[in-house]
Amino acid sequence: MCGIVGYIGKKEAYPIILNGLKRLEYRGYDSAGIAIYDGSNIQLCKTKGKVADLEEKIKKEITIKGNLGIGHTRWATHGVPNDINSHPHLSNSGNLVIIHNGIIENYTSLKEELLKRGYTFHSETDTEVLVNLIEDIIKKEKVKLGKAVQIALNQVVGAYAIAIFDKNKPDEIVVAKLGSPLAIGIGEDEFFVASDASPFIEFTNNAIYLKDEEMAIIRIGRDVEVRKIKDDSLVAPYIEELKINLEQIEKGGYEHFMLKEIFEQPTVIKDTYRGRLLVNKGIIKLGGLEDYIEKFINADRIIIVACGTSWHAGLVAEYIFEDWARIPVEVEYASEFRYRNPIITEKDVVIAISQSGETADTLAAVKLAKEKGAFVYGICNVVGSSISRETHSGTYTHAGPEIGVASTKSFTTQITVLTMIALKLAKIKGTISHRDFMLHLRELELIPSKVKEALESNGKIQEIAEIFKDVKNFLYLGRGHNFPVALEGALKLKEISYIHAEGYPAAEMKHGPIALIDEQMPVVVIAVNSNHYDKVVSNIQEIKSRQGIIIAVVTEGDTIVKEMADYIMEVPKTPETLTPLVTTIPLQLLSYHIAVLLNRNVDQPRNLAKSVTVE
Ligand code: M6R
Repeated sequence: MCGIVGYIGKKEAYPIILNGLKRLEYRGYDSAGIAIYDGSNIQLCKTKGKVADLEEKIKKEITIKGNLGIGHTRWATHGVPNDINSHPHLSNSGNLVIIHNGIIENYTSLKEELLKRGYTFHSETDTEVLVNLIEDIIKKEKVKLGKAVQIALNQVVGAYAIAIFDKNKPDEIVVAKLGSPLAIGIGEDEFFVASDASPFIEFTNNAIYLKDEEMAIIRIGRDVEVRKIKDDSLVAPYIEELKINLEQIEKGGYEHFMLKEIFEQPTVIKDTYRGRLLVNKGIIKLGGLEDYIEKFINADRIIIVACGTSWHAGLVAEYIFEDWARIPVEVEYASEFRYRNPIITEKDVVIAISQSGETADTLAAVKLAKEKGAFVYGICNVVGSSISRETHSGTYTHAGPEIGVASTKSFTTQITVLTMIALKLAKIKGTISHRDFMLHLRELELIPSKVKEALESNGKIQEIAEIFKDVKNFLYLGRGHNFPVALEGALKLKEISYIHAEGYPAAEMKHGPIALIDEQMPVVVIAVNSNHYDKVVSNIQEIKSRQGIIIAVVTEGDTIVKEMADYIMEVPKTPETLTPLVTTIPLQLLSYHIAVLLNRNVDQPRNLAKSVTVE
């Protein structure tokens, strides 16, 4: 899971690649490197650390010039993060240089062969094996770079997005893809290569997204030549017009992407339902669903597969699908589902939820469900992502680029889509009254303004964060629709502040976690107006009588919990089924402020990457 960038054209390649790497750091940030061809040599600079460290190193050590180059930001798979294992990697002759996002699973056997043929290796990486395999094929078979890449990739088992050039053919970059994303930006007399379009969006709106098992030869003065890796056959490339702009992917005045993305939620939730939630007409229109309604209505069950925050959104969906549409729902960690020989039939509908659309486990679960004959529906944010392409149909969340590693707006927009699907199915099945259906349509339309109101507590939440920033453990409790929100709140705190936190259904507390309660333990309780309100009040009493500290998320105007809690975070009154869309906001802000106060790297927490494209 890494970010790759390449440039070939008339401009200086270095600033384009460096800037591109900064935008791709969400994909990995434990080391970075750049290789630029200066007209006679490949200038290579790599370092452990972030792109900023690479920039510093280059400033101190070399002057980089040239119009052809590649760069890489790494999240280590093979070999520890250090300067040597960082990409790009050179072949033994020094003629070829490569960047790679993915894993070559059979690299050990390939390496043994190459060692026998006299090749030497400096790094522990699978990528250095690949570049030397390509070099060996060029020599042995007397073929050009493109052909050698094709032959080599047919020997490789694994996943990759690669970009490679040969210093003896400086008018050409060869790229290939299987399992990891790769976009080619097409400018005037110039081409860009990247893991997504963000590195080149200010230069061109035209891009080719390579499909799995495709490669492309990008040559100055020629059209991009796309071929199938398996049989070398030519493919007519589809040039897409991109709709994202630079402002969408920059911080827009916020200190961190995460904060920007939290505050974007009123807008992006609206974007998610725009043109789909037609309150005046009393209908929900979801392009991807219209032709497949029968599949859902007649399904024996819906199986939701996802990871992390997307899995939490799936848990919220379980409540609303079963309650409104009366369809049995199972929510599975994609990573478990794919390996446990699950029973899936043609009467099942599988919904895959993924912000990035690239999560390896979710993608594998999609493929497995398809093999077993299920109808597979995707809910993704990134347009054109692998999962969105692999599923039979689906709905995009339209949340815009999410750069902060901690998912925020993707969670609320996923729930918005799932709510629309559940309501639509319930209406068609007749399992929801017209009154209830219309009420929820109207209430869903009001969610952006309620989220905006919830965001107004930011200052107060920052003060609460100041009080609790140094504690070592947190408990998060919620019931019903807000149990998954408790899990999500705990995950947010863990991943960006590194404080241990656990989410629990409030009623489960007395079956074990209550033993943890003492005067040191803050317990965040979601105690908004709901059918469970009285029960949650009892749970709060149980905590209070053991000296626990209560931080409660309450409905505006609440008096009972307000009396009992040590600190409160208010959200506007919302029908119970839609409360996760508002109760999650103070929890996102709480974790954000604690992490900032602890001086954590909020947007790029340690050990994590935005999209987990490895198992
Ligand atoms: O892109 P996806 O939604 O498939 O990603 C799934 C998880 O990796 C992701 O939600 C992860 O848990 C986030 N860091 C949570 O904030």
